[in-house]
Amino acid sequence: MKISIIGTGYVGLVTGACLAEMGNNVLCLDVDPRKIEILNNGGIPIYEPGLEVMVKRNVAAGRLAFTTSVEASVAHGTLQFIAVGTPPDEDGSADLQYVVAAARNIGRHMAEYKVVVDKSTVPVGTADRVREAIREELAQRGVQIDYSVVSNPEFLKEGAAVDDFMRPDRVVIGADDERALSLMRNLYQPFQRNHERIIIMDVRSAELTKYAANAMLATRISFMNELANLAEVMGADIEHVRKGIGSDPRIGYHFLYPGVGYGGSCFPKDVQALQRTASENGINLHVLNAVERVNDAQKFRMLQKLDKHFDGDLQGRHFALWGLAFKPNTDDMRDAPSLVIIRGLLERGATVTAYDPIAVHEAQRILGNVEGVRYASSPMNALEGADALLIVTEWKEFRSPDFPGIKAALKRPLIVDGRNMYDPALVRGFELEYDAIGRK
Ligand code: UDX
Repeated sequence: MKISIIGTGYVGLVTGACLAEMGNNVLCLDVDPRKIEILNNGGIPIYEPGLEVMVKRNVAAGRLAFTTSVEASVAHGTLQFIAVGTPPDEDGSADLQYVVAAARNIGRHMAEYKVVVDKSTVPVGTADRVREAIREELAQRGVQIDYSVVSNPEFLKEGAAVDDFMRPDRVVIGADDERALSLMRNLYQPFQRNHERIIIMDVRSAELTKYAANAMLATRISFMNELANLAEVMGADIEHVRKGIGSDPRIGYHFLYPGVGYGGSCFPKDVQALQRTASENGINLHVLNAVERVNDAQKFRMLQKLDKHFDGDLQGRHFALWGLAFKPNTDDMRDAPSLVIIRGLLERGATVTAYDPIAVHEAQRILGNVEGVRYASSPMNALEGADALLIVTEWKEFRSPDFPGIKAALKRPLIVDGRNMYDPALVRGFELEYDAIGRK
């Protein structure tokens, strides 16, 4: 099938590469010539395991190409995927200007039937706006050409995006007409394993499904973070509680890990956008409002713990911080809890040496060249001269550290672990103080 993908961000690039991998002929469009140049030279502008080799392989096979030409991209695909950014507006609602602009470009240049696929996470009702934008452009041109607009939300996780796309739990297709539906079905048929994974519904339900999934997952995390804070004061251990409740199949083990709050490109933004959509329609989502408040507070949990350990005075203290990315296996720093923690430390007069296997460059870009923040080339190097060690992202390489080495390097033998990486008894066996989330 001939497919065009508009936007080469995480979602667009992964979608393009994976659809090409299945034998489709894919052309990816981006307005940013820098990105297209990187891609055409065989590189990728983001870090995502497995993606670069897949892109290279499909470019070499002639199934995947990149362009900055809107005309070429509209002419290419029967299926036109919109996978552009939907950054939050000042009021938290999703900014749809790039989505609408992409739709207008399609309307301006299309010469035959197209299926326009909303892949970006967009509020309920966006497909109508896309449909309308194309209709206006066609009317302007005075031509009448058939087209369909469908919703096909993406559920991939950063760090596991390629695998998520190639082996999906489900493919949600929201379509209001048979012609588009049958093309979409054919497209996704090869991705099904063993049993049917395509779930078909109307466009609005598909749009809401995406937000509902992320809001539910965010709710579980905030709920566990609240319980963890309670467990600490009650003298219970949240890790026991987590296993105890996760064993109930109605609850399940996934997304029950307490920590320093959720971050990333989806949860914070999508929770806000759903609240916004609801309030615009006169509905107050009480649970979701609390989910967001709890998450904002949880990002300060480590700072509160440090205040406790250092009698409320962090002035002149120096901390080693392991992990900057909002989660492992990505260099993404969007809404990362580490940013709140680092800024909080600086405000309190402390300094930081941070280590992250991949995200240092992104952190530097976002934090700027601030005084008081340095970056180390290894976890152990970060410890030099530090009063204590803070763990913010659960990278695998932190799982079995050199505990005696940590103890020797720190001025005060204290680990504050925001991701509950270790068995407390084991750490204390090395005569290190260990303060984790929701643990005794
Ligand atoms: C998420 C959804 O999982 C995915 O389906 C959707 O398409 C996009 O948003 P992503 O943002 O890549 O994916 O990361 P995810 O692995 O879901 O983690 C989100 C955040 O929640 C991270 O900050 C993570 O540390 C945190 N988290 C996750 C917890 O604090 N506890 C958990 O139990 C799980």
